Amino acid sequence: VLEEKDALEAARCPHAASRAHSLDAIPGPTNWPLVGSLFELLRKGGLTRQHEALVDYHKKFGKIFRLKLGSFESVHIGAPCLLESLYRTEGSYPQRLEIKPWTAYRDMRDEAYGLLILEGKDWQRVRRAFQQKLMKPTEVVKLDRKINEVLEDFVSRIGKTNIGGKIEDLYFELNKWSFETICLVLYDKRFGLLQDKVNEEAMNFITAVKTMMSTFGLMMVTPVELHKSLNTKTWQDHTAAWDRIFSTAKVYIDKKLKRNSVIAPDDLIGDILHQSRLSKKELYAAITELQIGGVETTANSMLWAIFNLSRNPGAQRRLLEEITTVVPPDQDPCGEHIKSMPYLKACLKESMRISPSVPFTSRTLDKDTVLGDYAIPKGTVLMINSHALGSSEDYFDDGKKFKPERWLREHGTINPFAHVPFGIGKRMCIGRRLAELQLQLAMCWLVRDFEIVATDNEPLDVIHSGLLVPNRELPVAFIKR
Ligand code: HEM
Repeated sequence: VLEEKDALEAARCPHAASRAHSLDAIPGPTNWPLVGSLFELLRKGGLTRQHEALVDYHKKFGKIFRLKLGSFESVHIGAPCLLESLYRTEGSYPQRLEIKPWTAYRDMRDEAYGLLILEGKDWQRVRRAFQQKLMKPTEVVKLDRKINEVLEDFVSRIGKTNIGGKIEDLYFELNKWSFETICLVLYDKRFGLLQDKVNEEAMNFITAVKTMMSTFGLMMVTPVELHKSLNTKTWQDHTAAWDRIFSTAKVYIDKKLKRNSVIAPDDLIGDILHQSRLSKKELYAAITELQIGGVETTANSMLWAIFNLSRNPGAQRRLLEEITTVVPPDQDPCGEHIKSMPYLKACLKESMRISPSVPFTSRTLDKDTVLGDYAIPKGTVLMINSHALGSSEDYFDDGKKFKPERWLREHGTINPFAHVPFGIGKRMCIGRRLAELQLQLAMCWLVRDFEIVATDNEPLDVIHSGLLVPNRELPVAFIKR
């Protein structure tokens, strides 16, 4: 969380201007009629390379630039001072870009919206119902038992299924781990995804989430109404996937709602379900979206943490030292231990800086706003580029190097608005605390049991496919200690 005191310490914006220029004055690549800069972006490698193109544009045009792709126009901000201005002026209900394929499905089936797509007062009401518990470290830490239950299975699976230390399709294994964990937290249900033989219901559920995610991108750049009226295959697959997701989730949420007996102390979601005044329909949507928001993001961040540790054996050694000092050999790492592990936290932060999972998030301005030198009108879509920030030498010296120590300096000079892998302000990721605990515990379990080694030292190409992913199998092996 960008604590108030950190924010106050943040550098004053050198771009602040007494007389702001208009939106049209914001620099950017050539904006051709109809297509905007679409062809230029395609020439730079297309949508899968957009994160690199955006970093180039920031280098060329500065901290703020304007980009039009077809009819979609956005303003990109990549400077801590601009993010701070945005944070300080944000209203009560910050908005993100609408995910039209999702809202179209909900409207068609008369289902509610969850936090990812809600807006305005309804968003605030649902957010409040979950925020109090989900963003409170003292509440989230109680989830360590559930997280560990899955980790124990995961680590044993890594030990059993590795051939010469290599894991076949590590990303899918991490997705199963993360899916299993979030389902245990949300539905109190083990799906058995880490067993050798995965049951059909679990496989259908995870496949439905994958299909839903892989079919919505196309409908973000082509009109969803058209897909719906033509009943395209994309639309059919998308809606069938959501049907499956909702029907499975509802069964387990209903079971939790029926439980009137005393709620277990680590059943944070049970508590929210029983205490909130949200309707059943709202709960279905909100819980389902927590699951959607939490699975691949966490798996992807773990993948990058594993990669970064494999390429930095010195950091891994220091991390192992911290783990063995803090966690007695006969105990499992737990939430209490994490509190005394600054190097572990620094390793995760550094991994998320150098290899962020979500390269950018968006805001649709709900009022005219001055950012740096420019007066930006209400309705403008802003892109907050955490990837460009994290890879900028302006904010991180020796930025290409994995240096967890940079987060431990006593008189830290890192501007908190330069590191925003979970977004900013009132609309930042609500699962942040849970994700951090899950990732920190997973790093403890893995590094304690295995040496994570690099199997080659060739550069790893990163592509954008919703999240930032490696373009080949991760070159790592797990050697039992
Ligand atoms: C929103 C990243 C894990 C649920 C977001 C946003 C980012 C993000 C960048 C947008 C924030 C903004 O616009 O300012 C991540 C990363 C994760 C992670 C990198 C893992 C390392 C999770 C988990 C959950 C979750 C575990 C569920 C428990 C959500 C939800 C939102 C969100 C529901 C929308 C919040 C709102 O609009 O009120 N996340 N997330 N995320 N995330 Fe996460």
